[in-house]
Amino acid sequence: MKKYLVTGSYGQIGQALIPAMLERYGKENVVATGRKRKIPLFKEHDVIYHRLDVRDQFGLRSLIVEYDIDIIIHNASVLSATGEKNPQLAHSINIEGFYNVLEATRELNLEQLFAPSSIAAFGPSTPLENTPNNTIMRPTTIYGVSKVYSELMGEYYNQKYELNFRSLRYPGVLSPDEPGGGTTDYAIWIFYEALKRKMYKCFLGPDVRLPMMLMSDCLKSTFDLLEADDSKLTDRSFNVTAMSFTPEELAAEIKKYIPDFNIVYEPDFRDKIARSWPQSLDDNEARKQWGWDPEFKFEKMVEVMIEGISQKLGIDQK
Ligand code: SER
Repeated sequence: MKKYLVTGSYGQIGQALIPAMLERYGKENVVATGRKRKIPLFKEHDVIYHRLDVRDQFGLRSLIVEYDIDIIIHNASVLSATGEKNPQLAHSINIEGFYNVLEATRELNLEQLFAPSSIAAFGPSTPLENTPNNTIMRPTTIYGVSKVYSELMGEYYNQKYELNFRSLRYPGVLSPDEPGGGTTDYAIWIFYEALKRKMYKCFLGPDVRLPMMLMSDCLKSTFDLLEADDSKLTDRSFNVTAMSFTPEELAAEIKKYIPDFNIVYEPDFRDKIARSWPQSLDDNEARKQWGWDPEFKFEKMVEVMIEGISQKLGIDQK
């Protein structure tokens, strides 16, 4: 069994990924890390957790050696909205942090580095409908710039040192766990507010279409690419998607469950970010090269989110 180290392990994705990894790979083979001292969720699941700032070269290398790590899943990242508020912090964590992890992977000769990218790696000059896997990437956020940097550096190390780098351009990822600092986060908060107050003030305009997927599909794509046969990969970074919708369409679907739900629109700086991103992605390369096939479409996603968030809030939906 391989040994995995996960950075940024208690973010929105980590909170779902870590329990799934424990089940798939065994408790003793997963080391979760992050900047916080203690994570109650991980205590519950008896996860091996260590405090680590991804910029700390010595700390990272010590953990790799101590646990004899084979594969790093590098999830630590400052997301798009937080990044625009503090570009210097985003640069430091996303770019310097990534470089540190990449170099540790090379120097210590690890088997694989998986580092997610994002739809944010694209920008306003990209063809934004059905965006191809390989196309113009000139993002206008620091988060996007850092993702292009990691994709390119990962691909460069792959060519130069045969470092086994793999990356997925996640769209907005939807789960009942609270997200932090992203632009696609509206599509989670809308459920919380609809269930709690029957009212949501949306920070994007009604017509902003973005690609999205449910967490279970995000985990599926992650495990599928992590475990894909290297000889089948002609790319190292892949578009993945399951659906696209606008706030208006999402609100209309939620109304089917909560008829008196109301949405108002007060677009802020995140509206501009969202409009610079693809509305839909072409994920054919992922389908062809490693068999990507999402499970959840729009209507089912809404059903799953209503159920999951009602449960979290202790609301009986029936
Ligand atoms: N969900 C991210 C964000 O909104 C995009 O990768 O920042």
